[in-house]
Amino acid sequence: MSRPFSLYMLVGNPVSGSLSPAIHNAAFRALRMRALYVAVETPQGYLSQVVSASRFWTKGFNVTIPYKVDVMSLLDRLDRSASLVEAVNTVVNRKGVLVGYNTDGEGAMRALEKNLGPISGMRVVVLGAGGAARAIVFSLVQKGCQVVVANRTVSRAEALAAILRKKLGAEIRIIGLRKRELKKALSGSDLLINATSVGMLPHPEDTLVTADMLSPEVSVMDIVYKPLRTRLLREAEKAGCRTVDGLQMLVYQAALSFKLWTRRDPPLHTMMRAAKRAAEGRE
Ligand code: ATR
Repeated sequence: MSRPFSLYMLVGNPVSGSLSPAIHNAAFRALRMRALYVAVETPQGYLSQVVSASRFWTKGFNVTIPYKVDVMSLLDRLDRSASLVEAVNTVVNRKGVLVGYNTDGEGAMRALEKNLGPISGMRVVVLGAGGAARAIVFSLVQKGCQVVVANRTVSRAEALAAILRKKLGAEIRIIGLRKRELKKALSGSDLLINATSVGMLPHPEDTLVTADMLSPEVSVMDIVYKPLRTRLLREAEKAGCRTVDGLQMLVYQAALSFKLWTRRDPPLHTMMRAAKRAAEGRE
């Protein structure tokens, strides 16, 4: 009899542009595992059925837009990584018990540290206050960074500040996106992270920060990976800054999910190569 097959999936809507299947399937192949990762496009109203089925059919799954918050009430337990930021991107099926985790924040920290070295104590400007920004800001604060959040909708940034105060007793500074204000915040910073969707296809020429607002002491990470070299990263290179592209965070959060599901060390180089190939194929 053949060994059993393990199934993993991505639950979201839409999922067609996702690189996660390419990343995880490359890892399974490299480790010669009998496992498959599939993207399951889940229309509004079907999330609970897909999650119920996952208890029997899968060993775990990823959750993406728009279900990272909605999925929480359908799980049996939440790890602290998920309960802190109130969002789940990874679910592990432990013999029918579904446990929710969030690897986005830790994935971003690993991406930063692998590319830039230790980040604890850094002064960081984060653009954005949505779901992705929230996971990143929580992790930065836990690393002992001083964080300034710059968001178009200031009330949304204030809401993020309130949860951070309540859950971690931490304070962040909030600013808007006006050029002068941003430039001033950046002049005293070590790191800029774009955690908004600005610059993503079909608007690759959009950016909230240009080269004249940056100095070479500031490193710049973009979480956008479509296109891979965003306008922001090109502006940062022009200013002489070190840069970290959006595939880095994507691959490290995937590697952390992989480890949670399989308990095996993820083949990072393979995963990075697969992500690059899939991203370039789609640009
Ligand atoms: P995600 O879960 O990917 O973070 P999200 O929760 O919708 O998605 O958050 C998107 C972020 O990008 C928000 O910070 C949003 O700013 P607002 O809170 O003001 O909406 C930001 N964003 C999206 N488009 C933007 C634009 N054109 N200019 C500035 N900020 C933008």
